[in-house]
Amino acid sequence: MIPEPSGTTSIDPHWWRQAVVYQVYPRSFADSNADGLGDLPGITGRVQYLRSLSVDAVWLSPFYPSALADGGYDVDNYRDVDPRLGTLADFDALVAALHDVGIRIFVDIVPNHSSDRHEWFRAALDAAPGSAERERYIFRDGRGDHGELPPNDWPGHFGPSSWTRTTGPDGTPGQWYLHLFAPEQPDLNWDNPEVHADFITTLRFWADRGVDGFRVDAAHLLKKDLSEPYRPVETISEVSRYPTDGSHPLLDRDEVHDIYRTWRSVFDEYSPPRVAVAEAGAPPSRRGRYASAEELGQAFNFELLEAQWDARDFRETIETCLATARASDSSSTWTLSNHDVVRVASRFGLPNGTDLNQWLLSAGTEPVADAARGLRRARAAMMLMLALPGSAYLFQGEELGLPEVPDLPPEVLRDPIWLRDAGARKGRDGCRVPLPWAADGPSFGFGANGAHLPMPAWFGDYAVDKQDGAGGSTLELYRAALRTRRALQSTESLEWHEGPDDVVWFSRDNGWHSFTNFGLEPAALPAGEVLLSSAALHGQQVPGETTVWFRV
Ligand code: BGC
Repeated sequence: MIPEPSGTTSIDPHWWRQAVVYQVYPRSFADSNADGLGDLPGITGRVQYLRSLSVDAVWLSPFYPSALADGGYDVDNYRDVDPRLGTLADFDALVAALHDVGIRIFVDIVPNHSSDRHEWFRAALDAAPGSAERERYIFRDGRGDHGELPPNDWPGHFGPSSWTRTTGPDGTPGQWYLHLFAPEQPDLNWDNPEVHADFITTLRFWADRGVDGFRVDAAHLLKKDLSEPYRPVETISEVSRYPTDGSHPLLDRDEVHDIYRTWRSVFDEYSPPRVAVAEAGAPPSRRGRYASAEELGQAFNFELLEAQWDARDFRETIETCLATARASDSSSTWTLSNHDVVRVASRFGLPNGTDLNQWLLSAGTEPVADAARGLRRARAAMMLMLALPGSAYLFQGEELGLPEVPDLPPEVLRDPIWLRDAGARKGRDGCRVPLPWAADGPSFGFGANGAHLPMPAWFGDYAVDKQDGAGGSTLELYRAALRTRRALQSTESLEWHEGPDDVVWFSRDNGWHSFTNFGLEPAALPAGEVLLSSAALHGQQVPGETTVWFRV
């Protein structure tokens, strides 16, 4: 039984509602065998570090066998570990080590697509059109006299088309298959009962191994309307845009919810029930269904992550997200960073409204990010986020104040966004650079050798060993904030307080107040016992771009 963080052994079935979940991107966390890729034993070796953060759970991005065509979100085998990252025994050891210190574990389930190296897809390519093997994916004949044109004009998330043509063993071109992401990620056919059954097997496989929760990748994409005539792309919103009414042939269709109701019945076979969080590109009005107790229980909202550094934007975002979660009787999720976006310490160092892709394409030169300002704001935003009711998701390295690496040279970029879009979008490699554990060494303590993405010389300034125990460091601020949150966490209610225009101020029902000054001018600190501050206070003044927690 997992010891509860409080030291008791009773299991609270609602533990997830206000949990802090730390995202580990396994190949960039810690490399135990000096091959340049982070691995599972590397994570196990850092369990004490995770414990020192007082997080409730760890979410592992995919660690399954994969060609890494999309950083592991191209899965060859859903029920195994990539040999470069370890073995199933290593996974069991990691679960045991985490559970021993009261940390729960989420794994990432990628149900929309497998990789093109999955045994099902290889069998499908070897089989004839119309065969049972091809029915596990979405194969269609092409248009044109010789089938030389894709079945329709639907674009992919990563590139120009969501269709790729197959080539037979003798070189003859054949049918086309659908992939909403990279060609190496063929979409599974969720109209096929065999696909449903296989994912139930996968969920049980990991739940039986002690996994506590699942992050469901691209949860809104599984069901598609492929009836002909296909809707031309002009008549539907862009593939990457949110539909609002369930009418889109590819996104957020109502039928997808049947899948998650079945998954819920599987989660509820376990004690305590396994939990899940949907990554669902659905507007707030439709997100609640994924997050309902009958389905996955929670759904990410990414609005805070998209919010500008602006008091009104933050407050409105928080109100919308809380209302959305309440409507489905779920709790809100908050996040400022993940493996798909520019790191928060860099975003907030740029003027509001900066086009982040253009910024990355300029290698971080236009405009130049104000690193000190970005870090100061990121620290304040983190404290604001951690005071909110609901669960908070942190991305590895955020606790170090790590900035984006915007100037990775083109030849090292691995993101299919860059590779497929002919250099029009730089992609997400800059937030996936391995963690600096030590100020010196070949890969700053990440491993005994190099790292799979180059780590810039300045990474040493952010190293764990430099910040560990150092008063005022970002790592120590995160630790103090997470400890304080754990001690003060109460019901999910929140009360707003009105302050100056540039201030976002609220309290929880036990007198815990969070006060963020988004402006540059100091704001008067209300009366109370100060608990923690993201920057030094000036007497009774809260300086600009600072959050303070106090108790009344
Ligand atoms: C993941 C991405 C991935 C995509 C396709 C996303 O939602 O977070 O990293 O590229 O799904 O699997």
